[in-house]
Amino acid sequence: MARDFSTVGVVGLGTMGAGIVEVFARNGIDVVAVEISEPALERGRATLAGSTDRAVAKGKLAAADRDALHERVHFAVGLDALHSVDLVIEAVPEHLDLKQRIFAELDRVCRPETILATNTSSLSVTEISVATSRPNQVIGIHFFNPAPVMKLVEVVRTVVTSPEVVADVEALCARLGKVDVTINDRAGFIANALLFGYLNHAVGMFEAHYATREDIDAAMKLGCGLPMGPLALMDLIGLDTAYEILDTMYRRGGRDRRHAPVPLLKQMVTAGLLGRKSGRGFYTYERPGSPVVVPDEATPLATEAVVADGARAITKVGVVGSGTMATGIIEVFAKAGYEVVSVTRGMEKSAKVCEAVKTSLNKGVVRGKLAEADRDAALGRISWSATLDHLADVDLVVEAVVEELSVKKALFASLDEICKPGVVLATTTSSLPVIDVAMATHRPADVVGLHFFNPAPVMPLVEVVRTIRTSPEATATARAVCATLGKTGVVCGDRSGFIVNALLFPYLNDAVKMLEASYSTADDIDHAMKLGCGYPMGPFELLDVVGLDVSLAIQRELYLELREPGFAPAPLLEHLVTAGYLGRKTRRGFRDHSHR
Ligand SMILES: NC(=O)c1ccc[n+]([C@@H]2O[C@H](COP(=O)([O-])OP(=O)(O)OC[C@H]3O[C@@H](n4cnc5c(N)ncnc54)[C@H](O)[C@@H]3O)[C@@H](O)[C@H]2O)c1
Repeated sequence: MARDFSTVGVVGLGTMGAGIVEVFARNGIDVVAVEISEPALERGRATLAGSTDRAVAKGKLAAADRDALHERVHFAVGLDALHSVDLVIEAVPEHLDLKQRIFAELDRVCRPETILATNTSSLSVTEISVATSRPNQVIGIHFFNPAPVMKLVEVVRTVVTSPEVVADVEALCARLGKVDVTINDRAGFIANALLFGYLNHAVGMFEAHYATREDIDAAMKLGCGLPMGPLALMDLIGLDTAYEILDTMYRRGGRDRRHAPVPLLKQMVTAGLLGRKSGRGFYTYERPGSPVVVPDEATPLATEAVVADGARAITKVGVVGSGTMATGIIEVFAKAGYEVVSVTRGMEKSAKVCEAVKTSLNKGVVRGKLAEADRDAALGRISWSATLDHLADVDLVVEAVVEELSVKKALFASLDEICKPGVVLATTTSSLPVIDVAMATHRPADVVGLHFFNPAPVMPLVEVVRTIRTSPEATATARAVCATLGKTGVVCGDRSGFIVNALLFPYLNDAVKMLEASYSTADDIDHAMKLGCGYPMGPFELLDVVGLDVSLAIQRELYLELREPGFAPAPLLEHLVTAGYLGRKTRRGFRDHSHR
């Protein structure tokens, strides 16, 4: 029979500890909450009160239940108060020597049968356990931030943790309403091992002025459906904690350069910019501990100001191409009120594209999202052509032809001859350097990338790619146009993968490497990312949807351009592609889809 936990201790009431106290107390378990000093204890008490008050205000917790919850928590300074608890969870700062000292002390203070758990994100649970005389009763219970909200708990067993202790802790997680994955003691466990390379890379992009903080965050939220962008997440985690986690993962996890903390992080920590908890990190907050972002000197101007900032007037738009992207883009522009000239390689193709646009608009009408009159008006704004000459008087051209550099270059050379001066020429390429296309013209200052996501009518994000020769006016124009389409345009440099793919695919590739190393299963890894980090799909679900061949091609491009050893495609991914297991489209990828 599973052990009964009636009283637990929590050591350290910071970002994580205060949340962990709430999780236990909410589930009817008495908690002894311990801090190092009276002021720290007060802060912990205030965090708990703030969080439960918010839950009451949102109608998620009854006022009476909140009061009962608080009655279950006993606050104290010093570890001596933990003498009779059944389990202790430690959540002090991420330093091995500190944690070892605390565990040695807990070993002395607590009853012999008490389970001692650490909430460490990256340190070795084994190394922490040997500071006690009971390493078989030491375990990792890794909660996610914010602990009361995130469903996942990673239960970390060492080679000496007793199986009964593991089973007891798993049963406890179930009682708390959490989903647990039980894994061995490895740096970063599942979720952080996959998350922190991505977070650090995003900080590197910001440090290199590759894109603004707002644009990096918007790209990942809107392009991947993540609950928050990487820089906002760093602020939530705490930059000091994130720094320590990266540093430990770098040292323990094979010295992968992607985990070497970006220098800016250390500078920010030294300067006291720790994120939400200090009121300022990548963003500025209303006050320390507040989730409310307030404008600061780096907050960008509103779109109207961008328009005033030299954006050109656009009324007539040419779209070249006849594939999925071109079709979607024609629809998007026509619906937004632009006059559109569609150019394909023949009237037969034009007829097909026209049909596809009609079908898509009709779906909007059937679903009640588009009035019939608006559909007819949109269709009336499109003219269909098979010759580029009809682009002589457009204000913007969006090219969406096949992803081959020679074809795109030839097309841009023709556009250069045909189009009027001042036109903005845009390519939708997702993998070719925009500057190559720009240099096929005599007006590289007017060339930008406009990377739409598929399906274009649905996806809210467009990456606006500016090359080293793109003029500020052309960039401002592209961004302003995105806004009129009801989309968010994020501006970035001309590098492989732009923002979204450069941050997304290495993470997916890392998940494949983790599976290949037999550290965990595809199901548990998918669970960990969905329930621990709020991802809409786990990495293997997403790989099967995107296509393993497409993912491999993108990962290869990133590896070739950035020469980052950690970006080398996972051999397992290559083998699956060679075997023809490409994902849902072939009914088999990481999973078998033949019966679904
Ligand atoms: N921040 C996250 O998103 C996150 C998520 C999961 C796990 N973790 C892990 O949780 C642990 C705590 O991280 P955090 O972000 O909550 O840190 P934090 O800095 O917000 O809080 C740490 C708390 O520990 C207290 N403390 C320090 N020394 C103490 C002592 N000797 N006795 C009692 N209390 C002491 C501090 O006063 C502080 O309140 C770390 O191991 C971290 O890796 C963090």
